Amino acid sequence: MNILIIGSGGREHTLSWKISQSELCDQLYIAPGNGGTSQHGENISINANDHEGIIQIIKDKNIEMIVVGPEVPLVAGLKADIKDAVDHPPVFVGPGKSGAILEGSKAYSKEFMKKYDVPTAAYGTFDASTVDEAFAFLDSLSAPYVLKADGLAAGKGVLILDDIDEAKAELKEMFSGKFGDASTTVVIEEFLDGIEFSVFVLTDGKSYVVLPEAKDYKRIGEGDTGLNTGGMGAISPVSFVDDALMQQVTDKIIEPTVRGIQEEKMDYRGFVFIGLINCGGTVKVIEYNCRLGDPETEVVIPRVKNDLVPILYSLGDQSLSNHKIETIDDHAATVMLVSGGYPGSYAKGKDIELPDSHDGTIVFHAGTKIEDGQLQTNGGRVIAVTSMHADFTDAVNQSMSIANQIQFEGKYFRTDIGKDLL
Ligand code: AMP
Ligand code: GLY
Repeated sequence: MNILIIGSGGREHTLSWKISQSELCDQLYIAPGNGGTSQHGENISINANDHEGIIQIIKDKNIEMIVVGPEVPLVAGLKADIKDAVDHPPVFVGPGKSGAILEGSKAYSKEFMKKYDVPTAAYGTFDASTVDEAFAFLDSLSAPYVLKADGLAAGKGVLILDDIDEAKAELKEMFSGKFGDASTTVVIEEFLDGIEFSVFVLTDGKSYVVLPEAKDYKRIGEGDTGLNTGGMGAISPVSFVDDALMQQVTDKIIEPTVRGIQEEKMDYRGFVFIGLINCGGTVKVIEYNCRLGDPETEVVIPRVKNDLVPILYSLGDQSLSNHKIETIDDHAATVMLVSGGYPGSYAKGKDIELPDSHDGTIVFHAGTKIEDGQLQTNGGRVIAVTSMHADFTDAVNQSMSIANQIQFEGKYFRTDIGKDLL
């Protein structure tokens, strides 16, 4: 079958690397893709948010399955737009708008968790007309204060503040458009103290499978300090996630989440990324995302032994229950190489030199492009180096070693990925 992947990050390179290995995959297209995805299929220069352009590819290239990487087209209803425009729509991997709201509205997702008894931080939802109630709720909490823009804000919509007056001032700014329409409504949450990890569930709306868990490293600086980023590295498996903890996650979180998706009659056939926090043995949900995480995908997908194509294709006729995920026991560690200045402003178009390929390491591209045959930087997050090894330390060290060998002007990466768990 002909398959189309939407997106241009390390997540999409990983998916194209995996999907292109399937005997069931004839032609693979990636829109818009990056300098790495073109090793595995044909890049088509159409933006991930260009629904009309995507529909044209589906028609022109006879696409039978489409896998959507990023959240924005999902929340914007790409699935329904394709259904309306194409006679025989491809199998669509990703929720429709009614499911993507689990990520698209934090207020909705908190309400959902409350309704289905999914453990999460205590919260209140407010807008400019309830600012007094919002201040009273903040006064009832203790520091630090967590403010979340309701809508999509490119990963920037969560503020964590130590000072009550600062929290109140920021809240007012959020109501007056700090994050545009996304912060017209704000969720205020109790701060949870613990260690974060995530699980990835694939559901066809009837049953579900769970992919290997992961832990990402969000902040720019060593020791998880400084500004938040899209993610500076990830590891899988996660040492503190033992069978008992995973059982708790299954019983208290995954099962009620899938039941909620069914009872709300959401159009959900795709991945649910559940961001979790382990607070001294009790796991709570930080957030839902309606897609795979990046860079978590770069460690999770390489640990899946199965051919991914029949599993994803089974979402079409809701026959996922015929499949079982087989996991590779090896440890995977990915280190993200970023452009100097990221997550602030940074330069693009710097030449990249890659070392020879190395057994056990995969170089996944994120913000890269090929310009006149030369690989160049094209974004903040540039390359994710994933290594797999029976031993966790060896996996981490090998990724570090390759990260050192990759050259481009302004290159930066964290050297402490995974070290907190050694
Ligand atoms: P989110 O976009 O909801 O994942 O939030 C971004 C990050 O903020 C999370 O990965 C956490 O590190 C942090 N965070 C969000 N909510 C809370 C909370 N209630 N308590 C502590 N940290 C939080
Ligand atoms: N790495 C976090 C995310 O993809 O949202």
